[in-house]
Amino acid sequence: MSDRLFIFDTTLRDGEQVPGCQLNTVEKIQVARQLEALGVDVIEAGFPVSSPGDFNSVIEISKAVTWPTICALTRAVQKDIDVAAEALQAAKHKRIHTGIGTSDSHIKYKFNSNREEIIERAVAAVKYAKRYVEDVEFYAEDAGRTDNEYLARVVDAVVKAGATVVNIPDTTGYCLPQEFGAKIKYLMEHVDGLSAGKAILSTHCHNDLGMATANTIAGIMNGARQAEVTINGIGERAGNTSLEEVAMILKCHKGIGIDTNINTQKIYPTSRLVSSLMNMPVQPNKAIVGRNAFAHSSGIHQDGVLKNVQTYEIIDPKDVGIDDNAIVLTARSGRAALKHRLHVLGVEMTQEKLDKVYEDFLKLADKKKDITDDDILVLAGADRNVNHHIKLEYLQVTSGVGVRSVASLGLNISGEHFEAAATGNGPVDAAIKAVKQIIKRQMTLKEFTIQAISKGSDDVGKVHMQVEYDGQMYYGFGANTDIIAASVEAYIDCINKFRK
Ligand code: KIV
Ligand code: ZN
Repeated sequence: MSDRLFIFDTTLRDGEQVPGCQLNTVEKIQVARQLEALGVDVIEAGFPVSSPGDFNSVIEISKAVTWPTICALTRAVQKDIDVAAEALQAAKHKRIHTGIGTSDSHIKYKFNSNREEIIERAVAAVKYAKRYVEDVEFYAEDAGRTDNEYLARVVDAVVKAGATVVNIPDTTGYCLPQEFGAKIKYLMEHVDGLSAGKAILSTHCHNDLGMATANTIAGIMNGARQAEVTINGIGERAGNTSLEEVAMILKCHKGIGIDTNINTQKIYPTSRLVSSLMNMPVQPNKAIVGRNAFAHSSGIHQDGVLKNVQTYEIIDPKDVGIDDNAIVLTARSGRAALKHRLHVLGVEMTQEKLDKVYEDFLKLADKKKDITDDDILVLAGADRNVNHHIKLEYLQVTSGVGVRSVASLGLNISGEHFEAAATGNGPVDAAIKAVKQIIKRQMTLKEFTIQAISKGSDDVGKVHMQVEYDGQMYYGFGANTDIIAASVEAYIDCINKFRK
């Protein structure tokens, strides 16, 4: 009989900490509902004390989602725990995730403390959280670099204090798989409460050296029964272990003998939804969900796949929800087909919003033959900019080989109309210089990424930008079949986010 692994999804907490990936509450609810449909066991919905936005999102997600446990993060601080408990009130199944750094460097430099005092603070936090909820998870931050003997003392103490799950994060992504597996094994063998079934161990691996998934699997094979993951592996710095990789490894390698509750056919739509809402492109060669994950390009591979698909394919793309035969939407598709596709992608909307998206869909279908899932997700999120006080009214660009590019544009700023024209070494340069003539601020474009969604020359281009202003970095996004317009939209999106 297979053992069961609990999937703890932290896309909305660790994933959302990534600069530029912030979601509003409505978008977070959309992701949480999709995670519920995907079958995750625990949703880490936020860090309530960190901001009113996070506090409110935890409240709303607690109301919107019923099957998974809703978890809120805290430090080992009473105030954090009070605020988390308040935010979780409406959750049907709730968990407080509290913890403290346990590595020598965290103890010395972060807390100016000592090992004994850290154990006392850990125990006090777990006991305090237990006043509010039965289900308390403790994290030993930087456990990856914490010596095993001391870590076992911490785990033993918090399990005795009532922790139901103990999270062993490789916070810096430092461990080797063998080392991380040995750490979990050591804890399983040296903490009585674990063998007695009073608590389970959880993995939480970061990907700084590209080993997050390998470490997670090593942890699972050595006794961990919860894995903390994010969709598309997003998260701090190089990211976290990705949900899709863990779920598919366990599905493909039945010999490991561990199952999850994940409905793998929902993996791809969930990946697209998160990528689109967070404006975070998925690298084309990303395992399981990247654009090229199932594309066979070399002649030898294509020949093999045509003879028998198993020669080069270990996963049937349909198993992760990629359906090449899915109905392609075109200008002749009706509202019902659009609504159905949105539903499959995890997006529900009011009739009024659907009408608006359908109108935009028809306009896009006029310019572009086949409308892809990514196009639809861009259209569904298009009203994200409605509250912007600066809007692009028109844009005209002339460019070519052997001539300097010229751009003229009009901006509507809080109802007032402004115009400017500029030249540049290319059309984007000219258009941005024209924007800068109107918005006279000291801002620097730091990053500029253009991504075509699918294949054709009629494709919708997505532009991601980072602009530095007043010592802060701002992230902007634009999508348009005209790549110059998408670039200007992304630039204006950044400016609209300036705090002053
Ligand atoms: O990486 C980490 O250590 C964390 C903890 C807060 C769980 O995210
Ligand atoms: Zn983390």
